[in-house]
Amino acid sequence: MEDRIISSQLLSEDQTVEFSLRPRFLSEYIGQSRVKENLKVFIEAAKMRKEALDHVLLYGPPGLGKTTLSNIIANEMEVGIRTTSGPAIERPGDLAAILTNLQEGDVLFIDEIHRLHRTVEEVLYPAMEDFALDIIIGKGPSARSVRLDLPKFTLIGATTRAGLLSSPLRDRFGVLNRLEYYTEEELTHIVLRAADLFEVNIMGDAAREIALRSRGTPRVANRLLKRVRDFAQVIGDGIITEEVARTSLEQIQVDRLGLDQIDHRLLETIIDKYQGGPVGLDTLAASIGEESHTIEDVYEPYLLQIGFLQRTPRGRMATFAAYAHLGRSKPDESDT
Ligand code: ADE
Repeated sequence: MEDRIISSQLLSEDQTVEFSLRPRFLSEYIGQSRVKENLKVFIEAAKMRKEALDHVLLYGPPGLGKTTLSNIIANEMEVGIRTTSGPAIERPGDLAAILTNLQEGDVLFIDEIHRLHRTVEEVLYPAMEDFALDIIIGKGPSARSVRLDLPKFTLIGATTRAGLLSSPLRDRFGVLNRLEYYTEEELTHIVLRAADLFEVNIMGDAAREIALRSRGTPRVANRLLKRVRDFAQVIGDGIITEEVARTSLEQIQVDRLGLDQIDHRLLETIIDKYQGGPVGLDTLAASIGEESHTIEDVYEPYLLQIGFLQRTPRGRMATFAAYAHLGRSKPDESDT
């Protein structure tokens, strides 16, 4: 079992940037207003009662701020946070070790909680419900179960796939929050805030151009801002104008809707190789050389959201809007 270590040396460039840009309090967090307002109430109430916050489930597409919000919750509650992920907890004993090391009120953040092993999940049930750990001592007929008390803690589970959680696990969360794609206006604010932290000059319409191409996702917005800043520095005078933003984003092949080469390849494969679909996920994944679950978790949600892709029982289909965006004409039903 390996905990995620938050150290800049072990994080990719993207994650390091993201980490330093991350808002630390709810008041600095842009967007997700309903989630934010509700959390504010639950946090305040728990603090007034001097209790641990109830367990929180955060779900939604990647890059929308699940990890950021977890850190904010711990900060606002003024408690410690321990971060790990579903696949990192290999055995029940690994989870037991984490749980017994928590302090009263601490947050335990489990990313990709849908990937917890079943045997580990079973240890989590009594821990979440009764703050207790049932351990078996001995073997065979003399084996007995001992119940160990745990500190009251808050589990924050994050997942891109709430549908894959078992219902006993889902039912044990008191607060369920779905994160939504950000609006253009919210992303523009996020880009301006990040530019301010980077101490880089950016025009309002340039921030908007980056926001438009960020597929509703702050992680993408911050990454694009960094790349645009590079272009502004090397081929411009360091100031990010709308012109610099647009030409650099075109240069790195991020189109007007934020679709990149892989999105294009995915849609073109469905259209050109499979006559617009339907084509099964695994076949599609093999055709473009990506993992099925990467397509499902990372690429598809946005393509579905903007209405470029349809999921049918027989597979994925490209929609009329996708044909139009790629400049293709959709064959008539009668022609095919
Ligand atoms: N950086 C990344 N996500 C953010 C958010 N939601 N608010 C402010 N800054 C952010």
